[in-house]
Amino acid sequence: MQRFSIIVGDITESKVDAIVNAANTTLLGGTGVDGAIHRAAGPDLLAECRTLGGCETGKAKITAGYRLPAKYVIHTPGPIWRGGKENEAALLASCYRSCLELAAEKGLRTVDFPSISTGVYRYPLSQAASVALWAIMDFLRQHDLPEQVRMVCHTPEAANVYRQIWNMWFASTKAERMETVE
Ligand code: AR6
Repeated sequence: MQRFSIIVGDITESKVDAIVNAANTTLLGGTGVDGAIHRAAGPDLLAECRTLGGCETGKAKITAGYRLPAKYVIHTPGPIWRGGKENEAALLASCYRSCLELAAEKGLRTVDFPSISTGVYRYPLSQAASVALWAIMDFLRQHDLPEQVRMVCHTPEAANVYRQIWNMWFASTKAERMETVE
């Protein structure tokens, strides 16, 4: 079984147990992938988000998926890029870890991530990809759930950045349970 893969797509179409939303700390919606997820899920998602009281950067909260094909949405506010000296890498790693912890606690088997913080929040893509891949691999090595994690990149260019870093850093040292990237 392939535990991790990098694909190109629209995460709102993912038929998985949970998709991750690159949210903001209000959890009340926005542009980018957040806007797309809220549009596809319908107004009940915002209604549930209103009950959550926001979320700190680097943490995560879960809701139902409503009209999405995904059963749940895990919302995580990523860090805004401020040049790299404001703890951005640790906060971004914490986003991935917090989402995976929530998914594992809920017994979820399949989770799709967007490239958190690399749009409106302007985190440089290759640096964000390194953090994301390390955080996901580190978690998967130590946990049986989720069984399958995918990075859903919106463009082939973004997927290539993730794949290049994967190939550089992980292809030769991958743990036996990681299997290969498609
Ligand atoms: N499927 C997969 N990836 C997508 C999709 C999609 N449908 N749409 C965009 N992306 P962004 P951030 C990619 O800006 O940087 C919002 O207003 C996109 O190409 O969505 O974490 C929130 O409310 C980019 O690579 O999130 C916050 O205020 C990645 O998703 C703020 O933006 C993330 O870009 C969060 O900014």
